[in-house]
Amino acid sequence: MRIERNYSLLKHNTFGLDVKTKYFVEYETEADLQKLLCDEFFFSQRFWHIGQGSNLLFLGDFDGIIVHSAIRGIEKIKEDEHSVWLKVGAGNDWDSLVAYCVENGWGGLENLSLIPGEAGASAVQNIGAYGAEVSECIEEVHAYSLETGEKRIFSNAECDYSYRTGFFKKPENRGKYYIVHVVFKLLKQAEFRLDYGNIREYLAGKPISLQTVREAVIAIRKSKLPDPKETGNAGSFFVNPYVSPEHFQQLKKQYPDIPYYPVNETRVKIPAAWLIEQCGWKGKSAGGAAVHEKHALVIINQNRATGQEIASLAEEICKTVKEKFNIELQPEVNYI
Ligand code: EPU
Repeated sequence: MRIERNYSLLKHNTFGLDVKTKYFVEYETEADLQKLLCDEFFFSQRFWHIGQGSNLLFLGDFDGIIVHSAIRGIEKIKEDEHSVWLKVGAGNDWDSLVAYCVENGWGGLENLSLIPGEAGASAVQNIGAYGAEVSECIEEVHAYSLETGEKRIFSNAECDYSYRTGFFKKPENRGKYYIVHVVFKLLKQAEFRLDYGNIREYLAGKPISLQTVREAVIAIRKSKLPDPKETGNAGSFFVNPYVSPEHFQQLKKQYPDIPYYPVNETRVKIPAAWLIEQCGWKGKSAGGAAVHEKHALVIINQNRATGQEIASLAEEICKTVKEKFNIELQPEVNYI
């Protein structure tokens, strides 16, 4: 188990914030995690488990223990005519896992290429992109309860997934389980999803394979989203909000070109990026933070922003979207 004191989290958050934590603890095995979960000092402190910090906003230094999993390894545990089952350590880099599946010809994760983060976190927030959600490929999640110290295996149904959320993200369960492995079920005969965004357009005239779909997703993401290695950001800052059909009809009258995705009879999803752009935020900066000029849903650390400056900009955005559209945006990013 690695333990650091007074440790910089610069490399552990994609906003590029140079904040410090009193302690940083990284476990490599389940045995080490079990030890940690029996430790009185650990429970006497404030603590928070992170992945790659791609969905976190540190508002200042952390006076407690930041925990990270270095449980890696990818094991094929089962196979039949149609599928393979992979048991993946929570600390595996997400995109390396996607690349590994694509190289082996296993379909399911290719639309989720280049999403920053780790396998464990993918199962907390049900990452999604280009018409796919990771929950469609998750068979089981293996996690330790902080209350009992015991390991529990969650089936997909028990994870209770929906758009960008699930059991582990619900307020009542948040931070109460540490995921050690995720079991993914992947297809030997891929079922391609090309109808979201401009994947099909990008692939026109090219053969369709796991590799070319991955390349298309990577190219599309790179054309719109800033690379956190160059410009600090956490991808989408807000989740796309739902409105009622009545509210949507009012908006449509006023803004006939409003983009939307019907969800069911009671909910319509509106792209938060459109709402933010309509409020004039795209490319605007405040302090060291700014709204990305190519995608209004992304807040960037333009010039040595503090976490507070990023949070203030987000708050201003929420205020103007509420005033103009009567819609409350919810951050996708976790504030720490
Ligand atoms: N749009 C604007 N202005 C912009 C950008 C987009 O008006 O600056 C409008 C356009 O109408 C566009 C629509 O918003 O058609 C949707 O934009 P986009 O396809 O880029 O997707 P998104 O809804 O903004 C979601 C995910 C992304 C994911 C993309 C692609 C959420 C919160 N975000 O964004 O995920 O890559 O779809 O599937 O659901 C992330 O979570 O960090 C992330 C990048």
